[in-house]
Amino acid sequence: MADSGDLLATLLADTEREIDAIASLPAHKRFARMVLLSLEREQVAAVAYSEELVASRLAALPVDPEVKELVSRVVKWTQRDEALHAQYMRGVLLQAGEPLPIGFVLARQAVGTVSGWVSAISHHDDSERWGIRRASVKAAIAAGKAIGRVPDGLADELTYRSFRQFCELSVALEESAVLSYERMLGLLDDD
Ligand SMILES: [Fe+2]
Repeated sequence: MADSGDLLATLLADTEREIDAIASLPAHKRFARMVLLSLEREQVAAVAYSEELVASRLAALPVDPEVKELVSRVVKWTQRDEALHAQYMRGVLLQAGEPLPIGFVLARQAVGTVSGWVSAISHHDDSERWGIRRASVKAAIAAGKAIGRVPDGLADELTYRSFRQFCELSVALEESAVLSYERMLGLLDDD
């Protein structure tokens, strides 16, 4: 696994490319593009933390039942927070002064859903019985790399790993989200 500092740098570089593209747009087009990017990323988190996808991993944690219950609650409420963030972003887009076509918004959210699913399955399921899921996940990662949507540094992280490593990746993702939102807010200040 990459050093957490390297991983944060990889994640930031990937998002920076997207934000740079937004910054190059005329000011009046930036806000919707920022919210679209945010919608995708919030949806990734909402699905990646979903109770159903992490349940088997939580059940197998070698800790006391009370600790297991605590971790389970943290994951559950984090997922609900992230789902609310995605819902909020979608609402902002659909109620904007010049709303984007709903199909366009939902397609971007669907990209986030697939990305979150790939992330969760990659991290938590190493069972040989999930042949079709394994093939689907590998195909999705390969496609994401081919079109530049999955940076090499992140693709390397999309493998079965310990719960601790999953948590460390989640921390890096949250840190990159904070820094990216700060950068985007700076772009709005320029208007
Ligand atoms: Fe969020």
